[in-house]
Amino acid sequence: MGIGDDLKVTWKDGFSVGDELIDEQHRAFFDEVNHVAAQLDGGNPRNAVIQFYRTFFSNLVQHFRDEEALLARIKFSELENHRAEHEALLASVSAFEGLLLTCEDIHELRFVVKRLFVALLEHVVTEDMRYKTFVLRAQGV
Ligand SMILES: [Fe+2]
Ligand SMILES: [Fe+2]
Repeated sequence: MGIGDDLKVTWKDGFSVGDELIDEQHRAFFDEVNHVAAQLDGGNPRNAVIQFYRTFFSNLVQHFRDEEALLARIKFSELENHRAEHEALLASVSAFEGLLLTCEDIHELRFVVKRLFVALLEHVVTEDMRYKTFVLRAQGV
């Protein structure tokens, strides 16, 4: 069993919020985690995790921008609160950068990836799910 094996994650249909672009972006975060998990057993795991972090951060910024635009379009009543949740999540993700840059331990590196993913997934299943009915209603479902 490889060191990255327990990092592997699986997308479930229950994570869908009903919007094609947003679901695709959420799903891409799963793919990125699985990609870095496979690299943890490779020759330069630290570099792989730093690359993962940079991609994760910039994808997250873009994702939040797209998601907030969707929420404005469908007139989600809690948009301001949701925006604040995004700010808070970005702040906690940023806090890991310094740790990553000084971290040499493979278990710590793996822990950081896991924490980032869990923070994102918790946001998806609690906060993002709140707007699902608005998405479906806007689609006339
Ligand atoms: Fe999201
Ligand atoms: Fe969100």
